[in-house]
Amino acid sequence: MKNYHIITFGCQMNVYDSGRLRGLLAERGWRSVATLAEADFIFLNACSIREKAAQRVIARLKELKPLKKARPSVLIGVGGCLAEQEGVAFLAQIPFLSLIVGPGRLGEIPERLASLDPQGPALILTGTGRASETASPGSENEVASEEESEIASEARPTPPGPAALSSFLTIMEGCDNFCAYCVVPYLRGRERSRPPAAILREAESLLAQGCREITLLGQNVNSYAPTRLDPLEPGQPPFVALLKKLAAYPELWRLRFTTSHPKDFSPELIELFGSLPTLCPQLHLPLQSGSDAILRAMGRRYDRAGYLELVRQLRQANPQLALSTDIIVGFPGETEADWRMTQELLAEIRFDSIFSFKYSDRPQTRAQNLPNKVPELEKSRRLFETQLLQKAITLEINQTLVGQTLEVLVTGTGRRPGQLSGRTGSLKIVNFPGPNWLQGQLTQVEITEAHVASLLGRLPEAQDTFARSA
Ligand code: 5AD
Ligand code: SF4
Repeated sequence: MKNYHIITFGCQMNVYDSGRLRGLLAERGWRSVATLAEADFIFLNACSIREKAAQRVIARLKELKPLKKARPSVLIGVGGCLAEQEGVAFLAQIPFLSLIVGPGRLGEIPERLASLDPQGPALILTGTGRASETASPGSENEVASEEESEIASEARPTPPGPAALSSFLTIMEGCDNFCAYCVVPYLRGRERSRPPAAILREAESLLAQGCREITLLGQNVNSYAPTRLDPLEPGQPPFVALLKKLAAYPELWRLRFTTSHPKDFSPELIELFGSLPTLCPQLHLPLQSGSDAILRAMGRRYDRAGYLELVRQLRQANPQLALSTDIIVGFPGETEADWRMTQELLAEIRFDSIFSFKYSDRPQTRAQNLPNKVPELEKSRRLFETQLLQKAITLEINQTLVGQTLEVLVTGTGRRPGQLSGRTGSLKIVNFPGPNWLQGQLTQVEITEAHVASLLGRLPEAQDTFARSA
């Protein structure tokens, strides 16, 4: 038996891919170990979405140099978007890598590991169905046929043992939107929707193993468009039909999805937030900017008014809906006035939370070549003020919850002894004192204190125990 250790950076896609790799390695007799020192194979699933993310991974990889020197037999590999982006060029920075694998070819890792020489040339598996390179001339050239890559992407065993109470499930991969700042379409390829039957099979397997909350994953889930529609109800948008099918499993308590694009919301999808109780009242809806000029330059294909109207309809469908968003400050050409428009829109919409980023140039993207780049210091100021504004809004919204009793899915223990931790349907973290047997259950919790990042609560006096159980 051989030991592996996976370190994951970046988005939920990478978290999901790491889980999938764990499953595939386990099938071949590999065992997960907690420390690098015990591992025969170390894999970093790396992110490249922003420059800072990429730098963090490279710094982490460099830290592994002494370990490789002391134990040359260890195989060190890198995956994810950054591996796809860098390919063989990675070796110039990190020469001790044995394996560089793009997200489309992750499934090939287990079979290739056995024949990999830790001191030989690195194996480079990038592209999907495209030829890729190996490190040294004369070594074999890797070509994955379309057929192979489809099989690889459909073989998704889950890790052995009970599934996490709350799990991700990928329904589509890649992105066709080509937002001007974004590297994803270049690194994860065109949109590919998984067949509904494969998704339902995976959901059933997760539920059979104890999972009760599923978050559907994809770069643009609401443009889900499988080629084979068979088990889905015709006459409605495929994503809506899929959500309804999943919500019909009685073992599934909570259903979520991320990420959706504002331009792809059908009226049927909006309506589901009011009519499908399993669908959580929570939505991540990336806005990016409140300025029409910047939205146009970003190629987002909606404007401020259109976004506002969508929010109005969503809140009409479900007034409890918790909204979060992504904001980029300092996109090339963003003036003070443009940025102020984002601030005003944040104040108007009042998101429950936001993820905000300074724009950074990414290879291949259109924005990289745009004029009028915003100076770093200015980006930092805008980011700081954006976050300051949002913190106040988040705290105000959270404070309105004090005194309310909310349903919490108890996912684990809190930081303090005797404390449990879980999430509300709106995805807020709640810590509260309670007995250990409540873990894995839905329970009512009365909110007693609100912070920006979490809530404190207590079990109500006459606790009806949990609302539903497995
Ligand atoms: N610079 C800054 N932020 C970016 N994002 C994507 N690309 C960039 C970039 N080049 C942000 C967007 C996206 C989130 C996942 O990351 O806000 O929604
Ligand atoms: Fe990137 Fe835009 Fe696709 Fe999201 S929708 S992954 S931001 S290109």
